[in-house]
Amino acid sequence: MFSKTRLSSLLFLSLVSAYTWPDPKLDELESQIYDLFGYNFNAFPGFPTAVNPCTLDFFDTGAANKNRSNAADWIRTAYHDMATYNTADGTGGLDGSIQYEQDRAENVGDGFNNTIRFFQTSLSRYLSVADSIAIAAKIAIEVCGGPDIPFRGGRIDATGPNNPGVPEPQQDLASHTAAFKRQGFNPTEMITLVACGHSFGGVQHSAFPDTVPLDDGLDDESLPFDSTPFTFDNTIAVEYIQGTTRNPLVVGANDTTNSDKRIFASDGNVTMKGFAEDPESFKTACASQFANMLNQVPSDVQLSEVIEPLPVKPQLPFLLFTGDGTLQFSGQIRFWNMSESSSRTIKLLWADRSGNTDASYTGVLSHASNWAGTNKAGQTTALWYKIGSLNQTQPEIDIDEETGISKFWFEVDEGDGSAVRTEDQNGAAFVLQDAVMLADSTCNNGTLVHIDIAVRSDANPSRVYVEYDVQVPNGPGTIITVDTADAALLQKGVSSTYDLWTVDLPKTAISTTLKAAVNIAADIGGNKVTTSYFRPFVGGQIGYKRCA
Ligand code: HEM
Ligand SMILES: *[C@@H]1O[C@H](CO)[C@@H](O)[C@H](O)[C@H]1NC(C)=O
Ligand SMILES: *[C@@H]1O[C@H](CO)[C@@H](O)[C@H](O)[C@H]1NC(C)=O
Ligand SMILES: *[C@@H]1O[C@H](CO)[C@@H](O)[C@H](O)[C@H]1NC(C)=O
Ligand SMILES: *[C@@H]1O[C@H](CO)[C@@H](O)[C@H](O)[C@H]1NC(C)=O
Ligand SMILES: *[C@@H]1O[C@H](CO)[C@@H](O)[C@H](O)[C@H]1NC(C)=O
Ligand SMILES: *[C@@H]1O[C@H](CO)[C@@H](O)[C@H](O)[C@H]1NC(C)=O
Ligand SMILES: *[C@@H]1O[C@H](CO)[C@@H](O)[C@H](O)[C@H]1NC(C)=O
Repeated sequence: MFSKTRLSSLLFLSLVSAYTWPDPKLDELESQIYDLFGYNFNAFPGFPTAVNPCTLDFFDTGAANKNRSNAADWIRTAYHDMATYNTADGTGGLDGSIQYEQDRAENVGDGFNNTIRFFQTSLSRYLSVADSIAIAAKIAIEVCGGPDIPFRGGRIDATGPNNPGVPEPQQDLASHTAAFKRQGFNPTEMITLVACGHSFGGVQHSAFPDTVPLDDGLDDESLPFDSTPFTFDNTIAVEYIQGTTRNPLVVGANDTTNSDKRIFASDGNVTMKGFAEDPESFKTACASQFANMLNQVPSDVQLSEVIEPLPVKPQLPFLLFTGDGTLQFSGQIRFWNMSESSSRTIKLLWADRSGNTDASYTGVLSHASNWAGTNKAGQTTALWYKIGSLNQTQPEIDIDEETGISKFWFEVDEGDGSAVRTEDQNGAAFVLQDAVMLADSTCNNGTLVHIDIAVRSDANPSRVYVEYDVQVPNGPGTIITVDTADAALLQKGVSSTYDLWTVDLPKTAISTTLKAAVNIAADIGGNKVTTSYFRPFVGGQIGYKRCA
């Protein structure tokens, strides 16, 4: 039995549990779901930009499709990808297999293609198709008026189709109830999930010509499920209960395909009445069923804990070897839920390679007033600070290469008389290795990138190499590894502490259009030691100048 104290401290821990930085995959997913708008919003692929406003429709422009939206396509895609899930044997589920199932009658329409095309060129080693589908649905729902949906990450992409199993409108109620049971939803949850999903979008003539006849003069037409097809709200239930609904799956001329009518009435309208009377209960019920939908994954996939925003999060803290006796330390730090203050100062402190501190191991963080980001609709503000002083062309802190760095942390002084606050991840600090890093002499000649790598002389690496992502159309990036050849040790003892190694890569391999990410690594004493993963040609990444 837990003692009372132990239990309450466990509860406290579960409330504040955020993972410890760095965790490259969780760092990427955390950014995708929290860095939504403003400064440093995650632009690869920039999910929120496609649903703000919620009427945006990237791939079906034109009058004929004015009732369609990216948001609706994304939500339907998540459901259809998940709907193959089989609770009995743990197969199917949200695993990106929808990309191999688009020729099935149960997946009629171009909404799945529209969805995948949006993020396909931003996939990386840390962003799978399946996680992208889940994130797209979550962000569409949240940005378009819906509830916050707790998010777990780590979905793995299927390499082929799953067994069929998406419900179709002409099937009877018993088939639908059985299909939802197989997917892990009881009859009330079925009514809920269908109502929540059909709060968005509608039925298209080109996909369902019998359900939606074409009006004169139109090439295509889409009839919404309710009068607010671009916003999450309980109008779907209100109009159904009032009897004013124009939902084509309720009032369609052919009763065989009126599946929403059968499902909504399947418990004598109890659930739908509740939703019509209480918008908050609809929102709460949708939050949990949408979360259940996104978390139905094949049984061999282990999802992460719910990803909470890190209170203090470094973004690409970067050490650059200059050869002049110092390591240039640059990067940006995000402070979550912090408001602007002109009296605040933040210091960065670090421990050297041996873990020792010294009064001189300190520098400033700088903030400009336009460096604020938000999650959705500005509810939570995050302030971004740069490492170093803005008086420098490239803000940075110089670290003596002989003493080096092993970890860093922050002291926040609000300047209002309150106590100075230490931000060090509950004592763990922010760990940073200085054994291997990019060297300032790195350059490209237009076709080749000549990557110079500084490795600490005392490290005796068994390998020094570069890893970069190559995009494949149907899954997360494949990692290509390029080793330095033995002869590639450029200059031994180039400084008191480091040697230089080199790797030549074709520039096209890591070009902007591919948005590919690169990291530099060495095997030292049987361990892989690596820099963070960075995007060389995006945003003028330091070090990538033209060769002289
Ligand atoms: C028995 C279960 C279901 C049936 C028979 C059904 C049927 C349909 C049909 C026929 C369409 C029109 C598609 C088109 O014209 O391209 C549609 C659209 C849609 N469905 Fe469902 N659905 C079901 C469950 C769900 C669920 C559980 C969700 C999500 C939670 C969902 C989300 C959507 C969305 C967002 C659209 C609009 C797509 C757009 O406007 O592009 N559906 N559904
Ligand atoms: C989308 O459709 C286009 C045109 O048919 C096709 O070339 C492309 O491969 C499809 N993409 C996906 C992700 O299904
Ligand atoms: C859009 O939806 C309305 C119903 O709200 C319908 O009358 C109209 O025909 C639809 N237009 C198109 C182009 O789909
Ligand atoms: C109604 O829809 C069903 C299923 O699509 C179809 O088999 C049937 O022929 C339709 N009935 C009429 C009268 O169009
Ligand atoms: C459910 O509500 C609809 C719409 O108001 C109504 O037509 C139908 O008769 C109701 N069904 C039951 C079983 O109450
Ligand atoms: C943000 O910080 C304020 C003040 O410290 C706190 O009351 C609020 O709950 C926080 N909000 C979030 C979303 O963390
Ligand atoms: C930038 O330089 C000015 C003038 O030298 C100085 O007053 C200011 O404190 C410097 N700012 C920082 C952040 O170092
Ligand atoms: C870049 O360097 C490589 C190897 O030295 C050489 O083959 C190539 O012609 C150079 N490209 C340009 C544009 O100078």
